[in-house]
Amino acid sequence: MRSATARAHSNIALVKYWGKRDAELNIPAVGSISMTLSGFHTTTTITEHDLDEDIVFLDGSPAPSAMTERTARYLDLLRKRTGVARRIRTETTNNFPTASGLASSASGFAALATAFNAAFDLGLDPRRLGILARLGSGSAPRSLFAGFVEMLAGRNEDGEDAFAVPLAPQDHWDIRLLVAVNGSATKKVGSTKGMERTRETSPYWDAWIATHAKDLDAARRAIRDRNFELLGKTAEADALAMHAAIMASRPSVLYWNPTTLECIRTVFDLRESGVPCYLTIDAGPHVKVLALPEHSDQVAKRLREINGVAGVYPHRPGPGAAIIPSEGGSTS
Ligand code: PMV
Repeated sequence: MRSATARAHSNIALVKYWGKRDAELNIPAVGSISMTLSGFHTTTTITEHDLDEDIVFLDGSPAPSAMTERTARYLDLLRKRTGVARRIRTETTNNFPTASGLASSASGFAALATAFNAAFDLGLDPRRLGILARLGSGSAPRSLFAGFVEMLAGRNEDGEDAFAVPLAPQDHWDIRLLVAVNGSATKKVGSTKGMERTRETSPYWDAWIATHAKDLDAARRAIRDRNFELLGKTAEADALAMHAAIMASRPSVLYWNPTTLECIRTVFDLRESGVPCYLTIDAGPHVKVLALPEHSDQVAKRLREINGVAGVYPHRPGPGAAIIPSEGGSTS
């Protein structure tokens, strides 16, 4: 039985992906730039089997039906594109809450694509692997790489130029991203639905697209030059522009809760008191805060004091996706 285990770390976009230019091929409307996280990861083992359907386990129990269906649909795409015919047992574990804006889909699909490539000895290069990971989730290709990563939106209709590329390795820059977890409820409007509604109904969709290109340029420069203020300001403004566009959808989509707002206020206050820190927020209530190593403890302490914050997890730039040989590797 061919089998492989892969681990991929989650990533947080500093310049966000929001919107698809092709929903079927899952091609993003905009590029994005992320930091891979050192502490949150997904570990996935896939094993071929003789049953006539795919089986999915999450954290040791049969996965919820929505996850099983999404995984099986994704495996169908992988099989179609690679010629692999076998049905598969997928066992996946996250060391962080699933589907609540903590990028479990990014690390999940990156781990799954990486394990699939290894189990069936496909020998896909990073570009092809990125294209396959993208079919699962638009943020997944970024989790293939360590450190700082750019996802290219590309221009081609077939999406063959929409994949991730590394911008700078893990040890390029020691900065911290503090994830303030605030509730673990599964989000009401998933990112795909939220993106479609924003594109179709938000009066700020065009403005979002227009500002975004400049944010990508600025973030690329900021990472290259290790310019913390430029990266922070860009990341924060980009995320708030995205949420403004999302909130203005009709009907509105709101990923925040009162604790989210408390965290935002706290970051603004910290900055006013002379502590450089900047926030970003994904399709969920958690606030992620960029800080320099020397301010990380102080920022984490302030965030932990906020009513409703369940935990604050500081991350350094993390590693890229990899096969875990001891638990499997290719055994074909
Ligand atoms: O990859 P998805 O479908 O989970 O979308 C990710 C969307 C954001 O997290 C809000 C932004 C991003 O670039 O990760």
